[in-house]
Amino acid sequence: MTWSNFESLLRRNLAMAQVVAKAFAGSAVNVSGVVGGQSLSTSEAPKSGVCLGASSSDIWRKCAIFVDSGLRGGVKTTGQSVARRTIRAAVVKESPARPTSLVGEGNGSKKKKVMILGGDGYCGWATALHLSKKGHEVAIVDSLVRRLFDEQLGTQTLTPIASLQKRVKKWKDLSGETLDVYIGDVCNFEFLEHAVKSFEPDTIVHFGEQRSAPYSMMDRDRAVFTQHNNVIGTLNVLFAIKEFVPECHLVKLGTMGEYGTPNIDIEEGFITITHNGRTDTLPYPKQASSFYHLSKVHDSHNLAFACKAWGLAATDLNQGVVYGVHTPETSLDEVLINRLDYDGVFGTALNRFCVQAAVGHPLTVYGKGGQTRGYLDIRDTVRCLELAIINPAKPGEFRVFNQFTEQFSVNDLAALVTKAGQKLGIEVKTAHVQNPRVEAEEHYYNAKHSKLVELGLEPHYLGDALLDSLLNVAVTYADRVDNEQILPAVSWKKIGTKPKTVKPSGL
Ligand SMILES: NC(=O)c1ccc[n+]([C@@H]2O[C@H](COP(=O)([O-])OP(=O)(O)OC[C@H]3O[C@@H](n4cnc5c(N)ncnc54)[C@H](O)[C@@H]3O)[C@@H](O)[C@H]2O)c1
Repeated sequence: MTWSNFESLLRRNLAMAQVVAKAFAGSAVNVSGVVGGQSLSTSEAPKSGVCLGASSSDIWRKCAIFVDSGLRGGVKTTGQSVARRTIRAAVVKESPARPTSLVGEGNGSKKKKVMILGGDGYCGWATALHLSKKGHEVAIVDSLVRRLFDEQLGTQTLTPIASLQKRVKKWKDLSGETLDVYIGDVCNFEFLEHAVKSFEPDTIVHFGEQRSAPYSMMDRDRAVFTQHNNVIGTLNVLFAIKEFVPECHLVKLGTMGEYGTPNIDIEEGFITITHNGRTDTLPYPKQASSFYHLSKVHDSHNLAFACKAWGLAATDLNQGVVYGVHTPETSLDEVLINRLDYDGVFGTALNRFCVQAAVGHPLTVYGKGGQTRGYLDIRDTVRCLELAIINPAKPGEFRVFNQFTEQFSVNDLAALVTKAGQKLGIEVKTAHVQNPRVEAEEHYYNAKHSKLVELGLEPHYLGDALLDSLLNVAVTYADRVDNEQILPAVSWKKIGTKPKTVKPSGL
């Protein structure tokens, strides 16, 4: 294959190319191609470079390209002459010796090699830095598709997030720690194979999914995309572990939303039932309420089966709704700041309310507001992940933890934000808007969540300090808020087959 053929293939995959180009905007690096129908072998792959995998497996089969650190030139291949081009991309430069005070706290002998799928996202970025600070060796894998969703929808995070390359470089400058980066789609098995063989993780944390219920309910295309991206991505991860790193512990992010709102207590993954005189412990029934939540249910079944059939070790973290933006690591420098979504498609309850309060928008309570869910602080998310990683599941074990710390109804959250706003001199109003979802608005809810506490989680409960800090972040970046993006614009009942452009207030 010639370079011009390669370039035309890449051009066909324009959306990915645009996102990648944006993320790598900055300085020039050398790109070397491997020609001849095969990807690079592990031994040839640059360990600390950046692997750029095009999302089409067709491209990948024909070509593997490696964006090296920009200093080493081209990657050698099996005797073939390699065309070389310079593209605009960011360089992760070597930086001076690390300030030791930042890293290596705790965990002594439990240092892990952790590959974080979705490490550029809200939970993934904070987790990557936390684990790196704790002395674990961390690699980030991300297709950057979350940044593409913002482009598609005309939205942006409240906080001005830097490109992944700039984030990683800043972390290296501040901590001395390297985060390996692999840019590519986990649905592309050849890419995943390369990343896994090259990094050889002993733990894979899988955050890398499309995580918005409204996005999955916009139209047929997005429903199909969500289930394909999430279910096939996870299947690829399971196969990659089985084939290349069978001892590797998979820590997979599920959601409390898989359970729905049953009129009985929710257990942690399993329930013991006596039926017609016989007793068994079975997976807790799932009643997901969007195509996104259903993708998580399918993932859980696939995980359970792979553990049983192949002896893999997996932890399914049924996470509640995460709030907050800062962790000790992401607040070290503005370049490390985490994303915070406030829009009607990707924004989640408490984060949205704080931003709404900061810009003087009434809090948007859907329907009666009695919808009750589990919530947790992002500082607890990163700690839960650490606990699951350093206390791994056993071979063949499929375990489930409910990862949240407190339950609130939407009305509870609105009342808390109103009170916190008053303290800061902000007048906060609430509006009950038509509920775009199909869900119970008043219901029983009592979910167990003791397993992570038993492993050592000390929760940050929602209090005035967090609400003040979140409101202050929202006030600081209030000029980035587009009020038109706040109201829900996706209706569960109106989903159709026609590709939909989200329009503000489009119900
Ligand atoms: N944020 C929450 O409140 C919350 C609650 C419960 C569960 N979760 C789960 O936690 C995980 C992380 O959530 P988040 O809020 O950080 O989401 P996010 O969208 O901010 O991050 C997900 C990251 O995964 C990447 N990604 C998506 N598909 C990919 C693919 N095929 N290949 C490679 N990368 C891919 C995205 O680019 C993004 O950077 C998700 O699985 C989500 O379902 C989140």
